[in-house]
Amino acid sequence: MCGIYGFIGDGKVEDLINGLKKLEYRGYDSAGIAFSRNDSLVVEKKTGKVDALRTSVDGKLEEKINAGIAHTRWATHGIPNDINAHPQMDCKKQIAVVHNGIIENFTALREKLISEGHEFISQTDTEVIAHLIEKYFKGDLLEAVRRATIDLEGTYAIGVIHADVKDEIIFARKKSPLVITANEHGSYCASDVTPLISVGRDVVFLEDGQIARLKKGTFEIFEISGKPVEKRFYHVDWDEKAAEKGGYKHFMIKEIHEEPRVISDALMGRVKDEKIFLKEMEDWKDYIKRLRKINIIACGTSYHAGLIFKYFFESLRPFDVEVEVSSEYRYRNVLIDDRVLNVAISQSGETADTLESVRLAKSLGGKVLAISNVMGSTLTREADKTLYINAGPEISVASTKAYIGQMTVLYLLALYIDAVMGGEHPERVKALSKLPELVDNFILTEADAIKAVADKYVGYSNFMYIGRNLNYPSVLEGALKLKEISYTNAVGYQAGELKHGPIALLDEKFPVMAVAVDDDLKDKMLSNILETKARNAHVVAVVSASDQKVSNLVNDVIRVPDVENYLYPFFVGISFQLFAYNVANNRNLNIDMPRNLAKSVTVE
Ligand code: G6P
Repeated sequence: MCGIYGFIGDGKVEDLINGLKKLEYRGYDSAGIAFSRNDSLVVEKKTGKVDALRTSVDGKLEEKINAGIAHTRWATHGIPNDINAHPQMDCKKQIAVVHNGIIENFTALREKLISEGHEFISQTDTEVIAHLIEKYFKGDLLEAVRRATIDLEGTYAIGVIHADVKDEIIFARKKSPLVITANEHGSYCASDVTPLISVGRDVVFLEDGQIARLKKGTFEIFEISGKPVEKRFYHVDWDEKAAEKGGYKHFMIKEIHEEPRVISDALMGRVKDEKIFLKEMEDWKDYIKRLRKINIIACGTSYHAGLIFKYFFESLRPFDVEVEVSSEYRYRNVLIDDRVLNVAISQSGETADTLESVRLAKSLGGKVLAISNVMGSTLTREADKTLYINAGPEISVASTKAYIGQMTVLYLLALYIDAVMGGEHPERVKALSKLPELVDNFILTEADAIKAVADKYVGYSNFMYIGRNLNYPSVLEGALKLKEISYTNAVGYQAGELKHGPIALLDEKFPVMAVAVDDDLKDKMLSNILETKARNAHVVAVVSASDQKVSNLVNDVIRVPDVENYLYPFFVGISFQLFAYNVANNRNLNIDMPRNLAKSVTVE
């Protein structure tokens, strides 16, 4: 959600545009850049996509510049238009500011600044920051930004450039992420590491309340009090190519095809001799033995991965596992003590509601284990421990490979906790280590068949997904995928709930996606399918390869391999990802960047 990129050093205007291109996946509705030329600032802003901005600055792309800031805006205060797009400027047009986050006291600040003679032209909260910096600027930009941030309430990541201060740019952070790196050509800052991996692998994540001063090739970090801070570097080993499409039409389909590799990377070094090794957890063994409850906190797709953990862990032993979406959890009166483990799942590690839930859990004395994909993200720094999923950058807004990676790590975690508590399931560990090959083979052999089913159903505007037990979260995730990228109404239900309301929706125009694999509840699913058929609904059933019973009764099938019950969510999950992808692709939609959605939801 919103993206910031900026640099100081040797560069050209096009570098700013290219930086923004790599942040596009975060979600936005307008874009803009500012750079210095002689003694003034050039600001270019455009509603819509970065490509529209690129076209509008076409003649300037090759212009050499020594500093610039750039932004993709996801509107919060004021509609998406050219005026509200960032950068925002001060009265004298000497200061340009880009901002992610929300300034909660902006109305009061704006009124005060207006009474002091400042003139505002946009509806944004961001514009107050530019005027505040103008008010405090006495020749020292770092000091002016520092002073301005003291007045701000809310959340922010900001980038600031001044026409008269040619050798530095300033960034500051409170709750919205910023990452910095430098090489001999310049210093660079961005909302996440994606635009930085081509210029530097050793990065520093700004902490809350810190301010950074970037000069060509070097940077310093200060606390809000002005005290210098020692830099802590993280090494990023993401493959640069992973952030490119590599011949695929969309990142989403590329990322689905990466899933076998994602599973094997998540398992790497963690499974040996039919045992799970999570070195990160070793010093928590005593704590785990004392646990009375596990709380899972997450949003969106990560929440669905959390639900699967609950069912999987309960299949190992009876235990109290609660899964809650972060935006609810953070406002609850939860009972937490030192016998509760809080597991926060977040691909990005920057989801605002999840971070607030983590802060709540910690403030009540709970321990927090993060499951994340982004090394050094805020979640991983605030949690007591992190298990990384190691999926590499996920660019498509709709999460696919990260979901599969999260499930893999959550299965490992469940088996590990169970083993520490005295359980033994060597056959499950063994089955898990064979998963990458099975998934690889499944995608290779079944992707076309799933596409053919999707082609057939592309004309429908409503879908109902039903499943039970371990495959109940899979139907929620399947319905979410279809909603996100094809803008089709899709609902997910526990199949047993059908007759308590949802069945009233069904007729020949409302197809049902039913998970009826060969598990303990297959016969129950069969009854549910018959109920939907009796209402004339067309049924697509996800069945096990050897099935005949269900296949003979439904309109279409998606076949997944015959595996142990607990492994089905991987194959069902991937089937629904491919189904949603093909429906959206058929409709020629913007699959990687669906309307209104953002990859990294950094505001609540
Ligand atoms: C957004 C994304 C989803 C993601 C959710 C949670 O809504 O579009 O794909 O599942 O945020 O994100 P997180 O990074 O916390 O897993």
